[in-house]
Amino acid sequence: MSIFDSLSAHAVVPVIALDDPAAALPLADALIEGGLPVAEITFRTPAARATIEAIAKARPEMLIGAGTVLSEAQVDEALDAGARFALSPGLDREVLAHAAARGLPFAPGIMTPTDLQAALRADCRMVKFFPAMPAGGPSMLKNIAAPYLHTGIRFNPTGGVTLDNLAEWLALKEVAAVGGTWIATRADIAAGNFARIAENARAAVARV
Ligand code: 3PG
Repeated sequence: MSIFDSLSAHAVVPVIALDDPAAALPLADALIEGGLPVAEITFRTPAARATIEAIAKARPEMLIGAGTVLSEAQVDEALDAGARFALSPGLDREVLAHAAARGLPFAPGIMTPTDLQAALRADCRMVKFFPAMPAGGPSMLKNIAAPYLHTGIRFNPTGGVTLDNLAEWLALKEVAAVGGTWIATRADIAAGNFARIAENARAAVARV
């Protein structure tokens, strides 16, 4: 099973921005308890690398990826920390080439057919559709994807995805998994509200 097939099996990917790496394991345990042992740890905070490293080492059952990967150096950092996949809100050909050379499965962000064709040319198997709701929601993605279904490309919509609309996204067969910050918000992580995070994960799993 490819790493993106494993993501697809979870169907929902918590997108994490975490300030203190000390929260890494309580966060991982809350997601595991909620039935969602998967996360995109974003390089939006300096804690990303240490967080990925701590979870990859101590909770190998978690499927850990790196998000908001914007540079070749962050591809290297993500790999060294133990990330098994990476994503980005946009598409950078140099970053994609570096990830491919280092064997890190990478899903770049796309919002238009032109972006999507650039991703296909770079041999991507999965792309992030970002920002999913403001860009037009499920019907926009359905229309963008239609001419490319024969390529087998699959999508990870994020940006405005919530508990209330996730089923609508997952009803599209080209959607591998949705993502979002609502499951484990930066504020809840900072406040140590891990019970709420486990509950949000459980609620998301129940809608899949
Ligand atoms: C992402 O990078 O995937 C988005 O920031 C998630 O958007 P959300 O905060 O609307 O879930």
